[in-house]
Amino acid sequence: MKKVNVVFGTVYGSAQFTAETITKAIAKLGFSTKLWQPNELSGFVPAQDELLIVVCSTTGQGDIPDDIAPWFNELKHNAPYLPALKYSLIGLGDSSYDTFCGAIKQFDELFTELGAKSLLDRLDIDACETMEPEIEAKSWIASWQNAVSSAIEA
Ligand SMILES: Cc1cc2nc3c(=O)[nH]c(=O)nc-3n(C[C@H](O)[C@H](O)[C@H](O)COP(=O)(O)O)c2cc1C
Repeated sequence: MKKVNVVFGTVYGSAQFTAETITKAIAKLGFSTKLWQPNELSGFVPAQDELLIVVCSTTGQGDIPDDIAPWFNELKHNAPYLPALKYSLIGLGDSSYDTFCGAIKQFDELFTELGAKSLLDRLDIDACETMEPEIEAKSWIASWQNAVSSAIEA
């Protein structure tokens, strides 16, 4: 089974807890996993034969949290074209902001610019709807796994 890299960006810890929860659940399915701490990300270019999941909250007005912003900028300015990379995104936000889930949308645009392929629709989790984003993220894993199987068979 493919290796899954899970990356998160957070201000208050919910995206971190969500990332930890899904990493454990995905490991239980038999995938080998690596949960990257934001301070480990310098120089990390996702391997194209591995899978990437980014879990990121939004701060400010649609902004990327400070812990993951350096990696975002590094990829934006230095990453090679990554046409074989398969990525999946989970955003945490609050729909009372006009800039709902703005940070993960910036990641989506960046990976699209790099030529990477989204495995399935982005999951945008709304703090107005749930206090437990990790539960929504856990239920998302079934569709993620289906998308992985279809992509690998294709
Ligand atoms: C100061 C501040 C600014 C925020 N700005 C946005 C925003 O622009 N868009 C959005 O969707 N959510 C915004 N949020 C909501 C957070 O993204 C949401 O509460 C999220 O669950 C926090 O996750 P975290 O604990 O991983 O940081 C903001 C929250 C705070 C406290």
